[in-house]
Amino acid sequence: MGLRTSPRETRSPTLLTAVGEKTLVLSLAVARTETCHPPTFVPSLPPCATRSPAPSMPVIETYELTKRYGRRAAKSVLAVDQVSFAVEEGQVFGFLGPNGSGKTTTIGMLVGIVNPTGGNFQLFGASDPKGLLAARSRVGATLETPNFYPYMSGRDNLRIAAAIKGVGRARIEECLELVGLADRAKHRFRTYSLGMKQRLALAATMLNDPELVILDEPANGLDPQGMREIREIVRILADRGKTIFLSSHLLWEVERTCTHVAIVRKGRIVARGTVEEVVSAGKSALLRAGDEDALAAALEGCPEVMSVRRSEEGGIVVGLRSDDLTGLNRYLAARGIHVSHLAPHRPSLEEVFIDLTRGDFDSMTEIAS
Ligand SMILES: Nc1ncnc2c1ncn2[C@@H]1O[C@H](COP(=O)(O)OP(=O)(O)O)[C@@H](O)[C@H]1O
Ligand SMILES: [Mg+2]
Repeated sequence: MGLRTSPRETRSPTLLTAVGEKTLVLSLAVARTETCHPPTFVPSLPPCATRSPAPSMPVIETYELTKRYGRRAAKSVLAVDQVSFAVEEGQVFGFLGPNGSGKTTTIGMLVGIVNPTGGNFQLFGASDPKGLLAARSRVGATLETPNFYPYMSGRDNLRIAAAIKGVGRARIEECLELVGLADRAKHRFRTYSLGMKQRLALAATMLNDPELVILDEPANGLDPQGMREIREIVRILADRGKTIFLSSHLLWEVERTCTHVAIVRKGRIVARGTVEEVVSAGKSALLRAGDEDALAAALEGCPEVMSVRRSEEGGIVVGLRSDDLTGLNRYLAARGIHVSHLAPHRPSLEEVFIDLTRGDFDSMTEIAS
């Protein structure tokens, strides 16, 4: 069954109020609409999500959502390529991928500032323009770097956002408390650290008490302390039952914060599910041999092997296309390599991420830092 909305109908810019350039605040009357289920997702991927306790409803569903920037084929960029995923109520869903993999574009389509060029999506079961208008009133979104009036205090910036959203003053104080800015609220925005700026953006996002919180790279550029603060706020929001969709290129941020993950590469989802599901879907083996340099060289040439790396605990870990370890052993033996150890290996999410996004990073530090 296909969704009924044409991609062109999904744009509704009147919903969005810019607080500065990029901080989006969605605020309209609450309404529920009928749920309409999309077709089954990509069969080769693990099923999307272990469902949270019943009854649960999809908060976001995308079906082959696609965005191509530019019309002329030679110059156009396929930023998002047939992306299908579902986010259930109460999940903390990580949208993980290297820079340029289409995360912001996907979020832009969900919040209505980017027009899809293919596929469909639903928010709270709604896909028609009127339903999306109502659904977006239940969404709070922060896109990229927050931008407020620098000469005004944090509280006054929130007052402007609250006035636009029709939110009372008491709620401003609650949101300042939530993000730990109550005692700095009277200071000018320009005196804030980047972490405080991000937290003020989160406060603005939370003003209308959204059920779905969308955060685009909330920890981008922050020091470890700033990241910890954001993580703590995300945890508090999750404890309060909010559904959270956050994008990141930082693997460990997603691993520590999220219940579910989709890994995106060059606009396509390459894995999704719970962190556990994604990890267990990765096929990996640990090998040892007397001459590990010769072993590594032989493994590099094996068509079944996707990646080869030295384990910190000793031995060599390989990412495999299949779990045929007997075939791997035969391949090595035929090249005169006799292993002393060959066994399935449980990869970390980091190893899975590296395998799936191989070649997309200039260095390993980007994902590890
Ligand atoms: N407005 C735009 N016009 C043309 N290309 C764009 C535009 N926005 C993003 N892109 C391109 O789309 C791809 C995905 O970008 P983006 O969604 O920002 O990725 P991410 O958020 O994962 O870093 C990149 O190749 C980027 O250069
Ligand atoms: Mg981005």
